[in-house]
Amino acid sequence: MLLELTNLCKKYSYGDKSFYAVRDVRLSLNSGDFAIIAGRSGSGKTTLLNLIGGLLSPSSGKVVFDGSDLMSLSDRDLSALRNEKIGFIPQGYSILSNLTVLDNVRLPYFLHRRRGDARDRALALLKEIGIEHLANAYPKSLSGGELRRVAIARAFINNPKLLLADEPTNDLDTESAGYVMKLFSRAAAEGVSVLLVTHDPDIIAYGYRIYQMRDGRLY
Ligand SMILES: Nc1ncnc2c1ncn2[C@@H]1O[C@H](COP(=O)(O)OP(=O)(O)O)[C@@H](O)[C@H]1O
Ligand SMILES: [Mg+2]
Repeated sequence: MLLELTNLCKKYSYGDKSFYAVRDVRLSLNSGDFAIIAGRSGSGKTTLLNLIGGLLSPSSGKVVFDGSDLMSLSDRDLSALRNEKIGFIPQGYSILSNLTVLDNVRLPYFLHRRRGDARDRALALLKEIGIEHLANAYPKSLSGGELRRVAIARAFINNPKLLLADEPTNDLDTESAGYVMKLFSRAAAEGVSVLLVTHDPDIIAYGYRIYQMRDGRLY
């Protein structure tokens, strides 16, 4: 098993009130699985993805990824694991404005000392999602949908074992959404485990393990 969530909970507190954004979630994913979690805004999708990606710590329960309990790792080991093995596509804006598109996509490659410069791989990814012509542009000249695709290409650059995508087709037109979903499908066919959360009913058909999230619970 590549990813195993056991009784995962995340509690938020406001003053003397508290509530669970993620409640008792259990989920197992193997290499090559393509899972989609659908749910309305506020159902806990982003919180769940951030727990799996090691960006948030759970209130209780466990995330075991590739044999490691994420909470048992030091910050440094967790960062290394994320850089090497997890491609994360966050919900909001995450592109650095002072780097070109090409350098944004290559950044995770450079963050961990590696040989070469990943230029060809980055260009191939940009081509696959239809924005190769923007390789040398700066983010300020890109549309929301183009920026989203840069973040998607960036998540693939280090050949991750697990891809976590938070509403990846937001701001995309139907054609671009199609390119992006094909990229995910192909990754899954090549053995990458893909977990995507969305409120977009049109893309649910791409996954073959479909879950619903409601009030922090997974069904
Ligand atoms: N950092 C936070 N502090 C307090 N409440 C939060 C925080 N992040 C999210 N929430 C709340 O948790 C619930 C789930 O949010 P979220 O995971 O963003 O859902 P979704 O991605 O499905 O829209 C919402 O009610 C949201 O307001
Ligand atoms: Mg969200």
